[in-house]
Amino acid sequence: METNSKARPDWWKDAVIYQIYPRSFQDSNGDGLGDIPGIISRLDCLAELGVDAIWLSPVYDSPQVDNGYDIADYRAIWPPFGTMEDMDALIREARKRGISILMDLVLNHSSDRHPWFREALKGRDNPYHDYYIWAEGPEDSPPNDMRAAFGGSAWQWVPDLGQFYFHQFAVGQPDLNWDNPGVRQELYAMIRFWIDRGVDGFRLDVIDHIAKEPFRGITKNGPRLHEYLQEMYREAFREQRIVTVGEAWGADLEEALKYCRPDRPELSMIFQFDHICVDREEEGLWGSRPFSLPRLKRRVEHWQHGLYGRGWNSLFLNNHDLPRIVSRWGDDGLYRAQSAKMLATMLLGLQGTPFLYQGEELGMTNAPLALEEYRDVSAANQYKDLLSQGWREEDALAYLHAWSRDNARTPMQWSEGENAGFTTGTPWLPVNPNYPTVNVRAQREDPDSVWRHYQKLIALRRCCPVFREGTFTLLEPDSEQLFLYTRDTPRESLLVVCSFTGEEIPFRPPEGWERASLLLDSQSAPLPDVLGPWEARMYYLAKESA
Ligand code: GLC
Repeated sequence: METNSKARPDWWKDAVIYQIYPRSFQDSNGDGLGDIPGIISRLDCLAELGVDAIWLSPVYDSPQVDNGYDIADYRAIWPPFGTMEDMDALIREARKRGISILMDLVLNHSSDRHPWFREALKGRDNPYHDYYIWAEGPEDSPPNDMRAAFGGSAWQWVPDLGQFYFHQFAVGQPDLNWDNPGVRQELYAMIRFWIDRGVDGFRLDVIDHIAKEPFRGITKNGPRLHEYLQEMYREAFREQRIVTVGEAWGADLEEALKYCRPDRPELSMIFQFDHICVDREEEGLWGSRPFSLPRLKRRVEHWQHGLYGRGWNSLFLNNHDLPRIVSRWGDDGLYRAQSAKMLATMLLGLQGTPFLYQGEELGMTNAPLALEEYRDVSAANQYKDLLSQGWREEDALAYLHAWSRDNARTPMQWSEGENAGFTTGTPWLPVNPNYPTVNVRAQREDPDSVWRHYQKLIALRRCCPVFREGTFTLLEPDSEQLFLYTRDTPRESLLVVCSFTGEEIPFRPPEGWERASLLLDSQSAPLPDVLGPWEARMYYLAKESA
């Protein structure tokens, strides 16, 4: 039995990381917003689940245009979330329980309330003006027709300067000019500040966008991207035993290797989105393509093979920008728990570092919000855009129901008590009405629950090296119902069996697996020769030669 020890420089290869969206995790003072003391009060529960680290979505001071992804001060905490003392206490208390903290680094842009931007607005001669990206007017002629990710032009007019500034996201998120060495040095110093406070790693927001060249229409994968990342590694990450994971929507396999090949260190790993975009046309609308299990399997195989021995995968199905996976690829009705357990098994059998998103361990589902209840900065624009493309109102609302980022952001469901135990006040976003049945308290007591299943999977990953080292082989690639794969080392083999259907299907382990032991089953009473609805199993073989 191996134990997970952070003494190893690559401890994160055995780790399971849990993402917290602080606004929605646990409120401690009744203001309807989650906060850092609330997180501290739930650390024991996370330790019991078995996670090794927390990725904390931004807690920095911010006007909250994009829920904290618009930072006004990288070295201060947003007061409703707590104080710097609270943050220090979180780092300390987490560490006592063997849990590391990863901060979210938003380096592509700041808030328009950041002192750098306020200075920049004072005049073209101000030293901070060049911290951002500007273009000359007149007002009716922006340099090009680039669009911002949250709608509208990417160029915002500033009458007092007679210039536009560039923003890839909201108007309140001006892009930082990475070509200015002063910007880069300020950011590296800020990273070192957090390392000195005791954080063990970082998630790097839209990191593939930092080296944009807007005058040439380039946002992702700009020509100087890897030069900057190597510099950041040298200046901020080297010598530190920290883990870094970069968000890179624009990465294919070749690009991914540039970030994480051990012989040219930049980041530990990236989040790539190939698998999660399986039901989306490239750059198009979510759901614009039907889900296809064979396509998903091929994409998973592509990355499992492509990074094997050469880089390292991150594994995820949920985050704060994505709808809940059980509502998307599973069945959030009758088979909610079964399909949530199956998706967990599918993911946690793979090679890579799993990132779980709060509530995933309960099988939390999408939220039935009314139009006026959506809070995400992108929701209103998306709705308007769809109407302007001729969509009917009910279809545009159905689109938000299926795909809005707020689906992931409803409060964490702790108990069947008031507001699911999230707050004694009015939650900033409504609690999903299914909390009386879907909550941590109930699931911790139920040996068959989704929460218990995640707990078992996390423990298994820790004890068998095959999870970390095994090669990946996809079986039955064309099956529309089964996701079947093996993992192998010279000493051990693992067979992962996942049913993507609510029908019972005949099933026998493939030849050679007759002697295998059943490590884990999502059903408490599995039937012989049949897989139940959305059932998942893991079989294990210790090889004789071992
Ligand atoms: C990333 C974040 C998302 C945010 C965007 C702009 O994609 O995950 O929540 O809106 O960057 O910072």
